[in-house]
Amino acid sequence: MENRQKFDGYAAQYDEWFMKNEQLFTSELKLFQKALGDISGKRLLSVGCGSGLFESNIDCSAVDGLEPSEDMGRIAEKRGIRIVKYGLIEDYQIPADTYDIIYFNGSSSYITDLLPVYEKCLAALKQGGKLILLDVPKESAFGCMYLLGKSLNTYDHEYLRDILLELPYPLELASSGVWHSTEEKIGVLKRLGVKEFVFYQTLTKNPMYTNEEPEEVSEGYKSGGYVAIIAQKPEV
Ligand SMILES: C[S@@+](CC[C@H](N)C(=O)[O-])C[C@H]1O[C@@H](n2cnc3c(N)ncnc32)[C@H](O)[C@@H]1O
Repeated sequence: MENRQKFDGYAAQYDEWFMKNEQLFTSELKLFQKALGDISGKRLLSVGCGSGLFESNIDCSAVDGLEPSEDMGRIAEKRGIRIVKYGLIEDYQIPADTYDIIYFNGSSSYITDLLPVYEKCLAALKQGGKLILLDVPKESAFGCMYLLGKSLNTYDHEYLRDILLELPYPLELASSGVWHSTEEKIGVLKRLGVKEFVFYQTLTKNPMYTNEEPEEVSEGYKSGGYVAIIAQKPEV
C-alpha cells in the first residue's frame, strides 16, 4: 500500500495496551459480545477490524474484515478473519444485501465524514440487518482526555497529572482520532432513516479506575466511556 495509514507501526503497541489493561479490555469485550448477540448462522463485516483482537475471543469464521493498515490486518488474518480489502471503507464498494451485521469497533472514531460511510453500510445489509457502532464517545471522560492530550500534544502536563490510567492509550492514536459524540452518530443514522435503536455502555467509572475490575454492561449511552449503538436497517 502506497499511503501510510494511521495505525501502521502501532499494531504491537495497540494489542499490548489492551493486554496491560486487561480488566478494561474484559469490560469492552463484554460490551462487544453483548452488542453482537448470537452470531451463529450470520454473516458479518468488521469495518476497521484492526488486529482482530476482539474477534479472537469469539468464533470469527463468518467474519469478514476490511482494514487500511496492513500491519494490523495481517494479524487479523492470522486470527481467522477473512480480509476482503486492505483499504479505507470510503473506497470500498460493499456488495449489496450481503451481511446480517456490519460493525465498527472503534473505527468510526478515525473517520471524518460518517454519513456516506454509514449509508453504504446500511445498503449492504440484508433486510433486518444491523449496523453496530462501538466507540469512545467524544463527551465521555476518555474522549475529553484524548482530545486534551491531542491539543497539548503530550500526556505529560499538569492538567492530566494523576488522572490517567497507568498505561494511557498511545498518544499518537488518541491524536489521530476524530472522536465523535454519540448524539452526532445517532443524528447521522436518523438522517439515513434509522428508527430503531438499542444502546449499551460500559467503562462508567472515571478512566483511572476502569482497569481495577471488569464491569458489567448496562443499557443506555449517557455515562459510558465505551458505548454501543445498535441500529436496525430501515425497512424499504
Ligand atoms: C481503534 S482501532 C480498532 C481496531 C479493531 N476494530 C479493534 O476493535 O481492535 C481503529 C481501526 O480503524 C481503522 N480505520 C481507520 N480509518 C479507517 C477507515 N477510513 N476505514 C476503515 N478502517 C479505518 C484503523 O486502521 C484501525 O485498525
